[in-house]
Amino acid sequence: MCGIVGYIGYQKASPILINGLIRLEYRGYDSAGISTIESDGLSIMKDKGRVRNLYDLDGIDDLKGTIGIAHTRWATHGKPSKENSHPHQDNSKTFSVVHNGIIENYNELKKFLIENGYKFYSDTDTETIPNLIHYYYMKNKNTGIQRFLEAVRNACADLKGSYALEIICKDYPDNMIVTRKDSPLVIGKGNGENYISSDIPAILSFTRDFYLLNDFEIVLLSRDEAKFYDMDLNNIDKKTKTIEWDATSSEKNGFDDFMLKEIYEQPTAIRETIGSKFSENSKCEFEELNFDKDFLSNIKRIYIVACGTAMHAGLAGKNAIEKLCRIPTEVDIASEFRYREPLIDDKTLCIFISQSGETADTIAALKLSKSHGAKTLAISNVIGSSITREADYCLYTHAGPEIAVASTKAYTSQVILLVILAIYFAEILEINTEKVNSLKKEILTLPKKIEETLKSSSQIEDFAKKVYQEKDIFFLGRGVDENVAKEGSLKLKEISYIHSESYAAGELKHGPIALIEKDVTVIGIMTDEKLVEKTVSNLQEVITRGAKTLIITNQKIDESMFDMVINIPKIDCFVSPILSIIPLQLFSYYIAKEKGLDVDKPRNLAKSVTVE
Ligand code: G6P
Repeated sequence: MCGIVGYIGYQKASPILINGLIRLEYRGYDSAGISTIESDGLSIMKDKGRVRNLYDLDGIDDLKGTIGIAHTRWATHGKPSKENSHPHQDNSKTFSVVHNGIIENYNELKKFLIENGYKFYSDTDTETIPNLIHYYYMKNKNTGIQRFLEAVRNACADLKGSYALEIICKDYPDNMIVTRKDSPLVIGKGNGENYISSDIPAILSFTRDFYLLNDFEIVLLSRDEAKFYDMDLNNIDKKTKTIEWDATSSEKNGFDDFMLKEIYEQPTAIRETIGSKFSENSKCEFEELNFDKDFLSNIKRIYIVACGTAMHAGLAGKNAIEKLCRIPTEVDIASEFRYREPLIDDKTLCIFISQSGETADTIAALKLSKSHGAKTLAISNVIGSSITREADYCLYTHAGPEIAVASTKAYTSQVILLVILAIYFAEILEINTEKVNSLKKEILTLPKKIEETLKSSSQIEDFAKKVYQEKDIFFLGRGVDENVAKEGSLKLKEISYIHSESYAAGELKHGPIALIEKDVTVIGIMTDEKLVEKTVSNLQEVITRGAKTLIITNQKIDESMFDMVINIPKIDCFVSPILSIIPLQLFSYYIAKEKGLDVDKPRNLAKSVTVE
């Protein structure tokens, strides 16, 4: 989705802005633009298409300004075009603005502004903002920076919806104002300079010290300072947070694509996420949680709410929580949860999972749960992201920045964190002690076993080469393997554009088997000893109808039945999704590569979906 970069300092701003936007390309976008403060007013350079095209625009090399704002747009209001690209300006070109989010009352505001003599040149909701700021600016009798601040504050007070904004004004060549509501924005503190972005990785190579903005905070930036205000323009005290991520972890490090690099980072991501939460002989501890037996005994129901891959991780969490802790647990898609009148009260624990921590539906579901009195716990990979600040409790996965749109290491890190959370609950409730102890031992073997699983890469690549031109591919599994089938099928759809379906293997004969014909590819996942025979029988049914089969298993089976079998290490079913998904991630990757597709930036998809 849309990305924001900004710079205020002593260096030439335009290359910093464009390089920052390039780092945000992974989020998905269709147009890009920058605006800087020059000696003769505000420059503005923008167009539809790739960020790199900005380098070809006439006059871009002449920009000398050391303050500027930049944006990648993902069309919501109005098609991708130069006119609709950000930055937008008011009619008198006094203000340049970039905006992430959606202004829900823009029609109303536009009508008001037109009545007051303003003209509009784009179809965007954003264009109302610079004009509204200008409207209040002209009415303001103050002098000095207060006039700029009050104009922005008054305009923001009229906005309904979500926004992260950067604003520059030709009358204040040494300042910039930024603010946010329900859309991410961070400020990176440098020495005599400040960097602004919607995403930490875009500016991580410049600084590790960040100010994390809360909703409705307005920041007046100069080269040396960041002054924070609330909506009444009272001063707010704010400290920086140091981000431990390494700047090189946002680069490809010799891999062809971020997705492949991130698949191979899974042993580290899992090792880091397990961290020192427990050892073989010590109980599981989460410093961030202070749950006790009374607290947990009082929880009668758990909801796990998320979107996309994060929701699939939630399914593995449900399996562990229900079986280890015996607490009824439901998994919901965030966009559905909000509207289905879920049964929530103060005896409910709602767990929200979001890699980015900025997914609009997940944030809205969290706010709804809080308003009904539920206890809320956020799981995210991004420090200080919106869900982590909104929830009562928060846990982090330690996957490092995930750049490829298709989630891999974030998924497996979410699964392990949820299983460890289930162990933590079970130990507090003092149930299933034996099972929990053996599971803890198994978990500690995971990083090594992931490394072993990654060795199946060339076998998978061979199979992908055989089937990459297929039109339909089916994924089957039972129990936890059905959850993995869902995630495997989503990965394939996302990056290879092959139609694919996942089914509980036992459901096959209730409809989908009608679609199986000669040479259709069916992928079977079998990691549960209790269910393996039944799944083999289901696969026999598709083989009889001429299907080609790829099997991911750690069980003893008659391999001669299948076209290819990938053997993965044996591991407890609670965490087997962390291993069995890896060949499927690689399968999608190699198919997309064989088709010559852009693996990291699949069409129509965005890494962080900040609109509902
Ligand atoms: C988008 C991404 C998916 C991701 C989903 C949820 O659709 O393309 O990869 O799983 O959003 O994202 P979140 O940041 O909330 O985990």
